[in-house]
Amino acid sequence: MEIQSIKNRFGIIGNSPLLNHAISIAERVAATNLTVLITGESGVGKEVFSHIIHQLGTRKHNPFIAVNCGAIPEGTIDSELFGHEKGSFTGAHEARKGYFEAVNDGTIFLDEVGELPHGTQARLLRVLETGEYIRVGSSKVIKTDVRLIAATNVNLQEAVRAGKFREDLYYRLSTVPIFIPPLRDRGEDIYMLFRKFCTDFAERNKIQPVKLLDDAKLLILKYTWPGNVRQLKNVAEQVSILAMEKDVSADELKQIVPDITDNRLPAIAEARYDSGGSSFTEREILYKLIFDLKKDLNDLKQFVYDITKHQISGDGGPAFHQQLQNNTNNEKPFIIAPPNTGQPMVLQDKKPYDDSETIEESLSIADKERELIIKSLKKHRNKRKDAAADLGISERTLYRKIKEFGIEL
Ligand SMILES: Nc1ncnc2c1ncn2[C@@H]1O[C@H](COP(=O)(O)OP(=O)(O)O)[C@@H](O)[C@H]1O
Ligand SMILES: [Mg+2]
Repeated sequence: MEIQSIKNRFGIIGNSPLLNHAISIAERVAATNLTVLITGESGVGKEVFSHIIHQLGTRKHNPFIAVNCGAIPEGTIDSELFGHEKGSFTGAHEARKGYFEAVNDGTIFLDEVGELPHGTQARLLRVLETGEYIRVGSSKVIKTDVRLIAATNVNLQEAVRAGKFREDLYYRLSTVPIFIPPLRDRGEDIYMLFRKFCTDFAERNKIQPVKLLDDAKLLILKYTWPGNVRQLKNVAEQVSILAMEKDVSADELKQIVPDITDNRLPAIAEARYDSGGSSFTEREILYKLIFDLKKDLNDLKQFVYDITKHQISGDGGPAFHQQLQNNTNNEKPFIIAPPNTGQPMVLQDKKPYDDSETIEESLSIADKERELIIKSLKKHRNKRKDAAADLGISERTLYRKIKEFGIEL
């Protein structure tokens, strides 16, 4: 099959050689029963690849299940995977089939396989080598024919060296390794993906798509994207909602997504960028919360700035001067005393808050909420039921908020 038609079929965007290479391996291995180990950072598309492999293979009409090994408590993972007998542990009131039984003839995708506890690793190795396993609390050997696709965003070889992962299982899993490159190594794919997510978003919400100006494009190209495609998708949707103009400049992008200026961020937990299931309105609330936090930060900066200015203009009192003297070495944190508490406050900044830094517009959550409500009422021609549904709140809450904010209909 042509690589392009695989991309079309599975909604894969991008044309970087590294991505194309990964797709071509996925295609070739799909037709076999070999175990595949997909590696790559969080959000690069590992799960998408597991679907490609299953769907392009001979098992496509049989079940597929994705299991996140990191999300299942250690105590129950054996029973989830292999099932258990009645009474095999406290609370096991009924016998239960495990995934290896339920998905027989199909494919199991073991995500975050590096998180498997040692005991489970041993059981898994046995299934892979013999096709046999036993339920928890049973002695009866059961046969299974399951294809395994595993994924990890940690370096399993390092986990092996650290004694956290069995070496024999590592070799057994990685019969065919597929590495999905991080987004920052995919060059112009970043633009393509961004555009795609903005157009999809605009279509779903019946608005005009936003477009990045050249300086903004450069910014997204330079950014490290620790959360990869998942993060890019969220950023594209954030920008689609919050941009004031349809043509987005680098400055506006930085305002909406402050992270984008900071390339030193560590990889951010998957959950933060997980778009799975969260609706437009839920996200909007999250964005508002983030903005509110940002506002607090700005208030704090303003506060620090104000008192620093006071102190430096000479009314800081003796305590302050004492601290300043202690701080002649630039490596030490800068210490100032807030005026009313008398308690020193320690800042990591080496110099007083820079005068030239702009304090951003007020982004109060209440203002934004009011704005959203008005927008939504307008959109639905004052039909409260529809507006409430769109906002993801009850009609009663909307009614209360209309009164509270004094919105005139
Ligand atoms: N090349 C791509 N084109 C379009 N969407 C992609 C691409 N790669 C990943 N995605 C999307 O990004 C999100 C994260 O992908 P996922 O497979 O869950 O990543 P991972 O399992 O590596 O954390 C999903 O919404 C997925 O559909
Ligand atoms: Mg994943």
